[in-house]
Amino acid sequence: MFIKSPTILPMLGTENTPAVPHWDLDSGSESITFRTAMRRFIGGVTVITTRHENRPWGMTVSAFAPACMDPPTLIVCVNRNTITAANITADARFAVNVLSQEQVNISQHCSRAGSDKFIEDFEIPKDELPDRIKMPVLRDSLVTFDCKVNCEFLVKSHLVLIASVDSILAPAAKLPLLYGDGQYMHGVSVDQVLSEGALA
Ligand SMILES: Cc1cc2nc3c(=O)[nH]c(=O)nc-3n(C[C@H](O)[C@H](O)[C@H](O)COP(=O)(O)O)c2cc1C
Repeated sequence: MFIKSPTILPMLGTENTPAVPHWDLDSGSESITFRTAMRRFIGGVTVITTRHENRPWGMTVSAFAPACMDPPTLIVCVNRNTITAANITADARFAVNVLSQEQVNISQHCSRAGSDKFIEDFEIPKDELPDRIKMPVLRDSLVTFDCKVNCEFLVKSHLVLIASVDSILAPAAKLPLLYGDGQYMHGVSVDQVLSEGALA
């Protein structure tokens, strides 16, 4: 493994400058470098909701992706040693709540290792939801996917879940919450910045 501090890159291809790339990360399959490299991947944030002791429970998860459009199927990965993993294995159900930028506090609440992650304060009351929805739905989410587990398997520390989407609920469009480089971020539309710059 080789990790070095950031380098100012020379202009490649200029006279007397060899066109050799300088890498911040340059390694094989070492997990510490993989972890560092993954910090560069900026993505959305979700809270996976389940039931624990008959109460709503949530866990912050960014390892989420669509797996197939027809039938609607998604994939999530959760640490096998979490209460959430145990809840999902027991019920074969969960919901994925894709977070908006109004939900940093719930993301923090649901990512504290070892602490209770009950979410009564953040969920939409059951009588305000369509009857078909089975798992807890968080207020202010961008979209919630209510899911049934099709298949689960272990990859070392993590439980990989492939689930079919039974129901989709989304309020009026909101702005997404992003996470990367160890911090929460807000998305900015490049088109909007360009048009505002052009108008200024
Ligand atoms: C932004 C963010 C994304 C996360 N993504 C994942 C993830 O994809 N899978 C996972 O197992 N843990 C993820 N975590 C960590 C879990 O939220 C955290 O370890 C978990 O809530 C601990 O649960 P426990 O108290 O039951 O052990 C993430 C944390 C944060 C802050």
